[in-house]
Amino acid sequence: MRTIRVVQYGLGPIGLGVARILLDRPAFQLVGAVDVAPEKQGRDLGELLDTHPLGVLVTPDPQVAREADVVVHATQSRLAQVEPQLLELVACGADVVSTCEELSYPWFHHARSARRIHEVAQEAGVTVTGLGINPGFAMDLLPLLLTAPCRHLRRLVVERRVDVRTRRPPLQQKVGVGLTEEEFHAGVAAGLVGHVGLPESVAMIAAALGWTLDAITDEVRPVLRGGRVEGLRQEARGVVEGEERIRLDLTMAVDLEDPVDRVRVEGDPSFVAEIPGGLHGDVATCAIVANALPLVREAPPGLRTVLDLPPLRYSG
Ligand SMILES: NC(=O)c1ccc[n+]([C@@H]2O[C@H](COP(=O)([O-])OP(=O)(O)OC[C@H]3O[C@@H](n4cnc5c(N)ncnc54)[C@H](OP(=O)(O)O)[C@@H]3O)[C@@H](O)[C@H]2O)c1
Repeated sequence: MRTIRVVQYGLGPIGLGVARILLDRPAFQLVGAVDVAPEKQGRDLGELLDTHPLGVLVTPDPQVAREADVVVHATQSRLAQVEPQLLELVACGADVVSTCEELSYPWFHHARSARRIHEVAQEAGVTVTGLGINPGFAMDLLPLLLTAPCRHLRRLVVERRVDVRTRRPPLQQKVGVGLTEEEFHAGVAAGLVGHVGLPESVAMIAAALGWTLDAITDEVRPVLRGGRVEGLRQEARGVVEGEERIRLDLTMAVDLEDPVDRVRVEGDPSFVAEIPGGLHGDVATCAIVANALPLVREAPPGLRTVLDLPPLRYSG
């Protein structure tokens, strides 16, 4: 089998985490590294990965994607920010797997942008997919798989509790750690604080179940200790014919007790499935992206979601 040539676009903790996994897998060859951060320019990717020189120098120019079969893209969370980046990569003729949260299921809130990317990707004969732990697995795909044994399904309730002390600094900033309550609310209003992707998970679940949503709500409030923000609790609900059928309850805070991923399936049968301790989001996101690359390579051209891929699995 020919090796899959990969360009890593975005060299923060997530991009480097994916590259580190791929480096250990003979099926992949890292052929390019893109980032805009001035301090990374011209450096060997191996140096950023704390390993031997790879002969791959960091550049701000996305055109290196012309050398790639697939680009792993890990820069920003909002589709409006990344759409121009994705379109340029598509024009380079490479498949794209991105950790952009809003790309995980953009067909509800960003339908026009999704259609544009889909059409351009189809024309270019490449696949664009948004993947990750959340959105993309813990609060949407995994709960969906758990509905397979149900004869009837009334409601899905998903709870994820994350201790961000063990997570990367950009995530701690996104959940508002260290802010005052006023700064937290101002950050939420400006779109700088808060988890991006919970409404996308609700939309993905509803689409997969064939439920037509009246509305998706998304509420965020601070977790406070001693007057300081230690994190957030965010709840998104999917309402179908006036009834709450989907509830996603996400708490991410420093030193949170009882971290867990818990899915309550209400139907016939009703049951609770739990991952004690919860999945480590950074580790899982990098692994999911690396494991899914062979599946994305085989997927039909266009904008695809995790729902369009065969079941994700370890592929090392
Ligand atoms: N779906 C999921 O489950 C999931 C899970 C984890 C992370 N994510 C998302 O994945 C993304 C990456 O995470 P991270 O923690 O590694 O983020 P990060 O620390 O912000 O790193 C992103 C890197 O990309 C660079 N960058 C930003 N805009 C760029 C552009 N237009 N072109 C080239 N490089 C650019 C940044 O440079 P500067 O620092 O100079 O801006 C930085 O080096 C984030 O959006 C994060 O929210 C999603």
